[in-house]
Amino acid sequence: MTALVARGGVPYLSQRGKDDGIGGRVTGFALFMSQILRRPGQVVALAPSSPALCAEMTAGLDPHKGPVIELGAGTGVITQAIRDRGIAAHHVHTIEMNPSFHTHLQDRFPGVHHHLMSAGDVGDLGLTDVQAVISGLPLLSMPLGLQRAILGGSFAQLATTGRYVQFTYGPTPPVAKALREEMALDWEQSTKIWRNMPPARVYRFFKAGPTR
Ligand SMILES: C[S@@+](CC[C@H](N)C(=O)[O-])C[C@H]1O[C@@H](n2cnc3c(N)ncnc32)[C@H](O)[C@@H]1O
Repeated sequence: MTALVARGGVPYLSQRGKDDGIGGRVTGFALFMSQILRRPGQVVALAPSSPALCAEMTAGLDPHKGPVIELGAGTGVITQAIRDRGIAAHHVHTIEMNPSFHTHLQDRFPGVHHHLMSAGDVGDLGLTDVQAVISGLPLLSMPLGLQRAILGGSFAQLATTGRYVQFTYGPTPPVAKALREEMALDWEQSTKIWRNMPPARVYRFFKAGPTR
């Protein structure tokens, strides 16, 4: 399988292929591109997240803390970064609503819990002490009610020190202002990550309070 490798030697465009049924291998990148064309309103990206963005999204994850939930896992570039931080497969839960991406994730990451469902139902996982919810969702383009279900379900499972991590290509925090106020969310933000297409910023949201 041809592997396109980004600067620094980190595999970027090509991940383990998936049989295309006609003797070839479909790379994660090719699958991502095909799904952009089929479901542009769901994927909402020009390309999978770059190694630099994946590294920032997963910074601070601790193999000795609780589970990690990933929302909108796509072809698994962030899932791989989560695993590379030493998080055990059985402590990782991906949520993806696109059946083609879900099947690809199952092939690529055995042992991880993969859920084919809407991120709006994340609260149904019923986990506790989650150390981070890491979201590749196009959150700001979603209706307020869906954002509320995603953030509410996430914070119901996050540990008190847990973070909801979300990237954005835009200039404002990627959770609707009304919801940030309603849920008393505070946040930290990264510097702009230029080595991504388009450049992005990572926000870590947490419940405002003295112990956070
Ligand atoms: C911008 S892509 C990010 C993919 C990957 N995490 C990355 O960083 O390259 C957004 C992903 O969110 C998924 N998605 C969109 N809406 C969703 C929803 N309501 N529930 C679950 N997944 C959703 C899409 O299918 C797509 O895989």
